[in-house]
Amino acid sequence: MHNQNNITEKIYWIGTNDRRTHLFENFWPIPKGVAYNSYLIVDEKVAIIDTVERSTMEEYMDNIESILNGRKADYFIINHMEPDHSGSIRSLIERYPDIQIVGNKKTFPMLQNFYGISNNLLEVKEGSQIDLGEHKLNFYMIPMVHWPETMVTYESTTKTLFSGDAFGAFGTLDGGIFDDEVDLDYLEDEISRYYSNIVGKYGRPTQTALKKLSGLEIKLICATHGPIWRSHIPEIVAKYDKWSKYETDKGCVIVFASMYGNTEKMADNIARRLVKKGIKKIRIHDVSKTAPSYIINDIFKYRGVVLASCAYNGEMFPAMESLTNELTHMGIKDHLLGILGGKSWGGGGLKALKKFSENIKWETIEVMPEALCAPKDKDFEMCEELADKMASRLHELYD
Ligand code: FEO
Repeated sequence: MHNQNNITEKIYWIGTNDRRTHLFENFWPIPKGVAYNSYLIVDEKVAIIDTVERSTMEEYMDNIESILNGRKADYFIINHMEPDHSGSIRSLIERYPDIQIVGNKKTFPMLQNFYGISNNLLEVKEGSQIDLGEHKLNFYMIPMVHWPETMVTYESTTKTLFSGDAFGAFGTLDGGIFDDEVDLDYLEDEISRYYSNIVGKYGRPTQTALKKLSGLEIKLICATHGPIWRSHIPEIVAKYDKWSKYETDKGCVIVFASMYGNTEKMADNIARRLVKKGIKKIRIHDVSKTAPSYIINDIFKYRGVVLASCAYNGEMFPAMESLTNELTHMGIKDHLLGILGGKSWGGGGLKALKKFSENIKWETIEVMPEALCAPKDKDFEMCEELADKMASRLHELYD
């Protein structure tokens, strides 16, 4: 018999786990997979909230059918149109052709443009309500968390918030579906990586959404990815509040691009000096080896950032260029930056990093070493000077 995943007596998790895809959005590594969460409410009327990515569509349709068992579905609520949630819409509508499609005025043009669907639409606004019988669905717009059309659905009888991408996580749901059934230590970085990678650009809209939803009494948070929150709601809301304010801890992320180890030596020198000056949380990444996903996640955690790049064709090393582009696009705020370079003749790495620093507008330490070929004593002395300034500024900010 098919498992039925009850959240309450009449609300079910009907989502799927994706353990096959390597890159979420074809970019972010997901070694622990991802869950696409969808929900079903069976009342006098039946409502389905969001769908799943189309690769798991068959299992998804079975999940619905195993509960409805021939009964028809009345409402399909689209909180978010990104195809990891809208990808099974066509199959859903084929199976339930009379279903009313519920969205807001920004949802429907996307529905038309992605899937050519324009019938049976029911437009809701902030404050609209749909009565399912015992359950009442209320809608709140949370634009740019994660797309412009994004809204949340609040079921006011069970006090359940269907939150879209907000409060989501990477990682599959391995048996447990609730936050107190899964290993949150195992998922800790998957939760922060999901925020920093996917929602991270939208700090201000996330703050607006948190303020808007703060008046609601919430007993369950059903996000589109990751565990269902019921035992750790204050903790996950506090994390989102901290992250979306770009609040960081005392520490330093050192990222180097080095072809033959010379620039890496300077990065190591800075790390050692930072530790001697009392900075304990140091994370060093080789930008050629570690995906931006993990580096960006650490940058969301720690105030200090040191970027070290050898020159390459008169510019930064390509992998460093890609990382700095991503950081600029995401508009991450409030960091303390140190930059340094290495060159064999004309240079270009440090010059390009200076341009990055001007664009991103982080407070930047004015000592900027640049070694010629292999670093010498004078280069290491400058690295130590950079580290000293970084450490003393971090102490000033946090002590
Ligand atoms: Fe999980 Fe923005 O989609």
